[in-house]
Amino acid sequence: MSDTVHVPLGDRAYDVRIGAGLLGRAGAEIAPLLHRPRVAIVTDANVAALHLATVRAALAGEGIESEALILPAGEATKGWPQFTRTVEWLLEQRIERRDVVVALGGGVIGDLVGFAAAVLRRGVRFVQMPTSLLAQVDSSVGGKTGINAPQGKNLIGAFHQPALVLADIGALGTLAPRDFLAGCGEVVKYGLLGDAAFFDWLEQNGPAMAAGDLEARAYAVRRSVEMKAEIVVRDETEQGDRALLNLGHTFCHALEAATGYSDRLLHGEGVAIGCALAFELSARLGLCAQEVPSRVRAHMSAMGMKTDLADIPAELPDAGTLLELMGQDKKVVDGQLRFILARGIGSAFVTADVPRDAVLNLLKDRLASR
Ligand code: GLY
Repeated sequence: MSDTVHVPLGDRAYDVRIGAGLLGRAGAEIAPLLHRPRVAIVTDANVAALHLATVRAALAGEGIESEALILPAGEATKGWPQFTRTVEWLLEQRIERRDVVVALGGGVIGDLVGFAAAVLRRGVRFVQMPTSLLAQVDSSVGGKTGINAPQGKNLIGAFHQPALVLADIGALGTLAPRDFLAGCGEVVKYGLLGDAAFFDWLEQNGPAMAAGDLEARAYAVRRSVEMKAEIVVRDETEQGDRALLNLGHTFCHALEAATGYSDRLLHGEGVAIGCALAFELSARLGLCAQEVPSRVRAHMSAMGMKTDLADIPAELPDAGTLLELMGQDKKVVDGQLRFILARGIGSAFVTADVPRDAVLNLLKDRLASR
């Protein structure tokens, strides 16, 4: 059984399928896209050990040949050296313009392989098979692809929509609890930015979802993907509304930079903390009621998620330095920082109109409470 969310982007439209056991049906799902029975799979060592044999057997079951490139696992893979290696391997495999490349893994693999597909022979189709919660609800959908530069994360890339996304809910069962909870940062973001009823649902069902309830996981992924698809269709290349998806990310990127993009703070953990800070900033600016940030943090705490600067097990720089790091965010326009703030749960908006001192004081207070 799987659900389908359609992403209606004209000649770049595609389906996101969500359900348990999809990797084991990869052959049947991909076959309609192929002009010849052959695909190239790019994955990482951790995911290969868990899922590559399943995917290759499913492809072989439909008579589809596959070759696989296994990259090292981890964020360090998402740079020029492994990107060059991937593109050259795909060329060695004689992947042609009408062929399909498969990205099997989490956000690092999806972003890197999507970018490789975007530039290979000026663009070949690719299929996302996201295996982490974060990749299923965010990075595999919407066509943002790319790699990191020494100057910052995701600074090199292209918009290139996948031809199909297969989000196998069963694969989430192989995640370490910390990685699953980090993905929950992106899930809760959707409720906070645009769907109060989904946030209510998460308050009720989040703990069961974290404990492994497959139906709850499938619903959370589906609702997140529906929301992402709706926003991407309104604003594919982030001229406006798509920036809403960056709720919590301005704070998050500064915290990730301050912790050296290391496992002291996973991206999804930074998003959760960033969302809590964005709601606190909104309350301080009188945009939403004072009790709203506490409700946001209460849900995250009940899930066992990180909610505040105090939860980051690392030295952090002072508030001024964190603010500087925010200034290097991709969302800076004409040198002005843009924030996603909220008038309440489910009512986020984009603004450049945030007094610098309000942000500085918030960071000072949160650092002082560590
Ligand atoms: N991850 C934010 C976006 O896709 O726009």
